[in-house]
Amino acid sequence: MTGAEERWYQTAVLYEVAVHSFLDTDGDGVGDIAGLTKRLEYIQWLGITTIWILPILPSPMRDGGYDVTDLTGVRGEYGSLDDVRELLVEARARGIRVITDFVVNHTSDQHPWFRSARQPGSDKRDWYVWSDTTDRYSDARVIFTDTHDSNWTWDETAGQFYWHRFFDHQPDLNFENPKVQEAVIDAIFFWLDLGFDGLRLDAVPYLFEEEGTNCENLPATHAFLKRIRSEVEARYPDAVLLAEANQWPEDLLPYFGQGDECHMAYHFPVMPRLFLALATGNTAPIIETLADLPEIPDGAQWAVFLRNHDELTLEMVTDSERAVLNGHYAPHPSMRKNIGIRRRLSPLLGGDRRQIELLNAVLMSLPGSPIIYYGDEIGMGDNVDLPDRDGLRTPMQWDATASAGWSTAPPDRFYQPVIDSPDYGPAEVNVADQRPDPNSLLNWMRNLIRVRPAEMGTAPLELIDTGDQGVLGYVRDEVTVFANFTEAVRSVSNTGGDVMAGHASVTPASVTLQPYGWVWLK
Ligand code: GLC
Repeated sequence: MTGAEERWYQTAVLYEVAVHSFLDTDGDGVGDIAGLTKRLEYIQWLGITTIWILPILPSPMRDGGYDVTDLTGVRGEYGSLDDVRELLVEARARGIRVITDFVVNHTSDQHPWFRSARQPGSDKRDWYVWSDTTDRYSDARVIFTDTHDSNWTWDETAGQFYWHRFFDHQPDLNFENPKVQEAVIDAIFFWLDLGFDGLRLDAVPYLFEEEGTNCENLPATHAFLKRIRSEVEARYPDAVLLAEANQWPEDLLPYFGQGDECHMAYHFPVMPRLFLALATGNTAPIIETLADLPEIPDGAQWAVFLRNHDELTLEMVTDSERAVLNGHYAPHPSMRKNIGIRRRLSPLLGGDRRQIELLNAVLMSLPGSPIIYYGDEIGMGDNVDLPDRDGLRTPMQWDATASAGWSTAPPDRFYQPVIDSPDYGPAEVNVADQRPDPNSLLNWMRNLIRVRPAEMGTAPLELIDTGDQGVLGYVRDEVTVFANFTEAVRSVSNTGGDVMAGHASVTPASVTLQPYGWVWLK
C-alpha cells in the first residue's frame, strides 16, 4: 500500500458459507436463505465483516451449485429473491457486507442455453465450444482428474463434441461470442442491482481457449475481466470482484491487472505451504512464498484461507511436496480427491488445538483478508464416505442434538447426513456448547478476530530471520509475529514488544514458544 485509503474488503474478515448447509428454517432438509438471515446475529457476534455465500443459483446440484441452470435466479429450496433482499438488508443493518459466488466459465448441461445449443440449427449453438474431433486444444490439462480424462464430451443430439474444463455436465460457455459476454455481464448486474457488495468470479482462468496454449490465463480472458471491472466500477464503484484463479504466483498477479481487473484474488500458493511447514516442522516453503510476495496494485487485496468447500488443492506445489502432504494429511486414499485432500481443518490437524490455533494465528496475520470456512470456527469434522467434496459440506452443528439443531426435517430428508463420528458429532462439536465456554475454540477464534488490527490486511510484511527454520517470524506494521511450527519448545531472539495475543515467555533477550506456540507482540 502506498498510503491510499483502505477499501472495505482490504480490512475484511470473511466467512464462507453454503446456504444449504447452514440452517433449515422451513423443515425441508435443505438450508435456506432465511436460515442464513436468522444466523446473522451469530456471524456478527463472531466478528465477521463480510459473508461470501456459495452459489444460490438454480441448479441440479451435481457440482454443489456450480452447475447452474439460470444465471439470474435463486434455487427454489433456498427461498426467493425477496429472501435474498431481506438477507442483504439485515446484513447491512449489522454492518456486514455480502458477496456471492457467480459461475462465469460454464453452465449446467440442463441450462436452457445448452439444451437449445445441442439442437441442430440452434442459434445458441455458438454459445458453447464445439468440435468435430477431440484434437482441438490438446495442450489444456484435465482438472477433475478423478472423474475425467478429456475436456471433450460427445453429444449425440448435436453430433459434435463440446468443451468442458470441469465435469462433463458443465459445458464451457464460448466467450468469443459477444452475446455470451453480454449475457454474463447482464447477469453480473442483476446481482449487483439486487444489492450484493460483490461477486466471487468462479474459475476465471479458463474463459477463453486458444490453440497451442494451455488455455489458461489467456490475454483475451484478462481483457474480458478488465471489461467487467470497468463496467462494474462505472455503476458500482464500491463493489468487489474476487477472482478464483488457482494458479502459480506469476500467473495469479495479472488478475489484479494494473488495479483495473479483479480487486481480490485468492492466494492459492501460500495455503498448502502452511500445511507443508506444519507437516515437516520447516517453515522454509512459507518464507520463500512470502519473500516472493509481489507488490500488488493500490486497492488490490489477497484473500487468504486455510480451508474451503473444495479439496485442499495441491496443484500449486511440486510433486515431492505433494507426496509429503498426501502422506501426512491424507494417509487413506478416500481422503484424496482430484489433486488434493478432501478434509476439514480440524481432522486434518488431528484435532490438535495447538496446531489449529497456530495456523489460524498465522492466517490472521498474513497480508490479505482472511476467510473462515463455516464450521471451522468450532472445529467441525468431515465425512470422507460421502461422494465428491460433499463430506466437507455437511450441516452446520448448532447444538448437541442428533440433528445438530440445523433442521426439523426427519434425518432421512437431510440433503446430507450430519457428521456422526464419535469425535466430531454434534454432541462433541456444536455452537451452543462453545459459545458460553470461554475456553472453547469458538471463543478463541472470536478473540483473535477482535484483537486483529485492521491494518493487518495491507501493512507491509517484513520477514525476520529467526535463525531457526522451525520458527516463522515477521513484522506487520506494529505487530511482530512468531510461530513455532515444531513439536518442541523453541527460543528465538526477542525483537521487542508486549504480548498482544498468543503465549510466549518473553524476556528482553528471547521469546520462548511452546510446541506449536505462537505470539503476536506489539
Ligand atoms: C470452482 C469451485 C468448485 C467447482 C468448480 C467447477 O473451482 O470452487 O467447487 O467444482 O469451480 O465449477
